[in-house]
Amino acid sequence: MAEPRRRVWVSQPLFDDIVGRLAVHFDVGTPSRVMEYTPVQIADALRDVDGVLATLNERIGAEEIAGAAKLRAIANVGVGYNNLDIDSLTQAGILATNTPDVLTETTADFGFALLMATARRITESERWLREGRWTQWSFDSMLGADLHGSTLGILGMGRIGQGIAHRASGFNMRVLYHNRSRLPTDTEHACRAEYVDLDRLLVQSDHLLLVLPYSPQSHHIIDAAALAKMKPTATLVNIARGGLIDELALAQALAAGRLAAAGLDVFEGEPAVCPELLALRNVVLTPHIASGSLATRRAMVSLAVDNLIAALGEGPAAGNPPNLINGDALRAAVLIGNAGKTAIKR
Ligand code: DGY
Repeated sequence: MAEPRRRVWVSQPLFDDIVGRLAVHFDVGTPSRVMEYTPVQIADALRDVDGVLATLNERIGAEEIAGAAKLRAIANVGVGYNNLDIDSLTQAGILATNTPDVLTETTADFGFALLMATARRITESERWLREGRWTQWSFDSMLGADLHGSTLGILGMGRIGQGIAHRASGFNMRVLYHNRSRLPTDTEHACRAEYVDLDRLLVQSDHLLLVLPYSPQSHHIIDAAALAKMKPTATLVNIARGGLIDELALAQALAAGRLAAAGLDVFEGEPAVCPELLALRNVVLTPHIASGSLATRRAMVSLAVDNLIAALGEGPAAGNPPNLINGDALRAAVLIGNAGKTAIKR
């Protein structure tokens, strides 16, 4: 008798034509509208599936996978994966993948756009104009800060950080960076970027861009003490994860004129935005869209689909999901005897 088809859960409506590729191999369950799940609903959805295509909205950890006996792989649509408890997944022998590279340039473009909008007060002045407050051209209204010739600090110098550094050289900016590990010299030269410690980055940057992964170690890396080290004329831009910043401390610094402006694409409690930030005029707020060009979002979904198919041991890359995060899960799967039809096939 033929084996029953395996099942995958696609947690949100994505691009039907791309997600449809999963149906060649699996039975696919997907909601018809954007969903906000409780942990219990996620646990229920995982109970009877072999694989998941998840977005950053779905937090999946020990509790959610406790009853998911068949679950072998989770493909996250996104480069960041702080919504997944990787240690718990690894212990349970569940493979996790993400979608790096395909979003690098689009996200770097957006980081630069948000920086420009923030430093040159573009959205603030547009709001002011629409409110009918522009009654006469005046020499000193809406004055902002230059990008060209200024010092750009990049905190987190992975692929996206490097993409931003490349863009900065076209603006004749001096680029400083701080990263967990220093880049090889030839990469530093290619980015025209100078490695500094975190304090120097805070003190010397005219504009500071956050592009580092969020983790317990980087939680609130920009807190009141860090903000106090920055120039009062500086701008701060975050396109990584909201939890990197103590938002209340940021709102207080902005309100008190201890920092000129902030551009934020991500928020600690998103989609909720800290009311103290909403109340300020010198903050540009966008709804987590840094990777949001149509082409890139499609490429992310496509890569996640490839990862899931491969992680469940099917398709041309069977057994070799291109973006496996937790290689140790393979060993754990063998030890606990649930390797089944996963990347273990290799
Ligand atoms: C990512 O990829 O981590 C983004 O934040 C979501 O597009």
